[in-house]
Order: sequence, then structure tokens, then C-alpha cells
Amino acid sequence: MHPIHINSSKKTLRKIIAEINPDKIGVIVDENTKVHCLPRLQSKLKQRISVIRVHSGEIFKDTDTLHEIWEQMYRAGMTRKSLTINLGGGVIGDMGGFAASTYMRGMQFIQMPTTLLSMVDASVGGKLGVDFHQMKNFIGIFKEPHMVWIDTKYLKTLSTQEIKSGFGEVIKHSLIADEKLWKKIRTTKKIKHWKTLVKQNIAIKKAVVKADPYEGGIRKILNYGHTVGHAIESHYLTSSTPLLHGYAIGFGMIIENIISYQKGMLSKKQMKDINTYLKDYYPCHPMKVKKSSISKMVDMMKMDKKNANGEIRMSLIEKPGRCHYNVPVSPAEITSAMEESGLFVR
Ligand code: GLY
Repeated sequence: MHPIHINSSKKTLRKIIAEINPDKIGVIVDENTKVHCLPRLQSKLKQRISVIRVHSGEIFKDTDTLHEIWEQMYRAGMTRKSLTINLGGGVIGDMGGFAASTYMRGMQFIQMPTTLLSMVDASVGGKLGVDFHQMKNFIGIFKEPHMVWIDTKYLKTLSTQEIKSGFGEVIKHSLIADEKLWKKIRTTKKIKHWKTLVKQNIAIKKAVVKADPYEGGIRKILNYGHTVGHAIESHYLTSSTPLLHGYAIGFGMIIENIISYQKGMLSKKQMKDINTYLKDYYPCHPMKVKKSSISKMVDMMKMDKKNANGEIRMSLIEKPGRCHYNVPVSPAEITSAMEESGLFVR
């Protein structure tokens, strides 16, 4: 698996880039990372760079933006000997990695995640791609970056909402694989040691990805909360109040926990316990989705990449720290859990 550096020195970065010896360096940024993160990166690099610009937001994670990235790479004279640095959150990492891996049949790329979400999840594990027909990551490939370079100083540039969004994946990791971490999260009011938390989460993700890099089996547990969560996120994509990924996954975990309880996997006490925590943590973006939209979301879940034999398959937890994958769930079970969740309005 690709190396992951957390808060390593400028000297190390320069050495790694000198070893790659690229003919050109393109750095992909959006309007936020251009202002808040690019100057810090530039102060660490010796080489001239070409800045490749994209708009921020999941709505721009599409084939049109991909085309714009290739166009900018072309205009900058980049070749397969060039290097792309993806300086941003999950959207830039996934889309920039895909652009770099396909331009002239592929050049090296480095993931430089600037959000909590991309530090603990998106930048690790080689999933690249874009959304298509409002379906999340529908077009994509698996390809490892040359390395992941994490600088936790960038977390200081994030809004509370962005941090809370990233924390959705932290909660997910704890619930699928680390009961101790779950207990710690529940009792911690304010995170002081981000580096430690990021390291812990990367260790969980790395272990799963190492066991199953191409998601033939166990890697599906990383999608706990995501079957329902992605459908909710997609539903919000074109609305005037888009929902950040981690919030959607928070709501997805709530609904999937109800399904797990209804299937006799998760005890009532544990389901209530976890869902109370989640509802408490994500209260500031009340769901405004009408109950009548539930059937549209269930239809989206029928296109989920984890499905098999025409069945919706979910990753559901049995208890904090233990997750099962390939659990068949019927549209009726999902509809009933969504209605019961109290997250949707009449
Ligand atoms: N974010 C889920 C995965 O990387 O498999």
C-alpha cells in the first residue's frame, strides 16, 4: 500500500518529489484550498507549479469538471511524466486522482487531503472517480496514489460543519471496527490530539483495505451507513441546501441501525444508544425531505454498487465494533426504517 505521511518535514516532501523527478507539477485546488492551503504548500516546494482550478462542492464532482481538469493539464503541457498533487477534500482527491490516472494513460499523483473527511477516509485506499446521473462515485477506478501527505495544520482552516462532516467517518470507523474508540468518542467533548485521531482512523481503514483492496468482501464494511446515506446525499445534490457527506452518512447510519435492530442483529438498547448520540451530534441540519421522497431514495439504493442478484445488500452492525456485509435488505424494510426514523417530514 502507498506510504502515508502525517506531519512529516518539508525536507521529506522535497526528497520524495525529487525522486519522482516530474517534468511538470500540477496542483489541483478549489477556491478554498487556493486561498487557505496552497500558499503553505508552495512554501514547501522548490519547483514551479501549474495551478489547476475546480469549483468546490460535490455538485461539481462530474464528468464536465473532469474534462476541465484534463483541459488544464493539456494547456499546462503536462505529460505522463508529470505529477498531479490533489490539494483538497474528497472531491478533489477522487476526481483529481481519476484525471491524473487517465490523462495520457496515467501519471503519478499525490493525495494531499485538507479536510478531516479526506484525511481519515477518502485519501486512503485508492478509490477514484466522479458522480454520474446523481449517483455517487458511479464512474471510477481503483488506483493507489504515489503517497498520501497529511498536514493536520489544514484542519484549522475548516468550519465546524466541515469538521462534523469528517467526524461522520470517524464515528463509522469506530462502530464497524473499534468499540474502544467508540466509547472514547462518546465521552470526549473536544478533540485535542487530531494527529492521534487521524492516525487511529487511518490504521482502521488501512487494515481493511489491505485485506481486500478491490472490495470483493470485507472492504464493504467501510460502506456502513453509506447505502442509505449516499441516497440521501444524492437527493440533496441539486437542492439549495446541499448536505455535507458526513451528515448524510450520519443519517444513513441512524436508518441502517434501525434496519439492523428490526432484523434482530443490533439490540434495542444499543440501537437507541447509538442513534441518540448521532441525532444529538447532527441536529443542526434537520431533514427537510418529505416522506413522499422516500420511494425515490429507495430506487437509488437499487443501483448501489454493493448490490448482488438484484438484491440491495447492506453493511450492518451487530454491536459497536462488529459489522457484517452483504446483508440482503428489502425495499419494504428500508422504507419502514426511514419512516420510523423521524428524520423526514410529512
Ligand atoms: N470509503 C469507503 C472505501 O474507501 O471503501
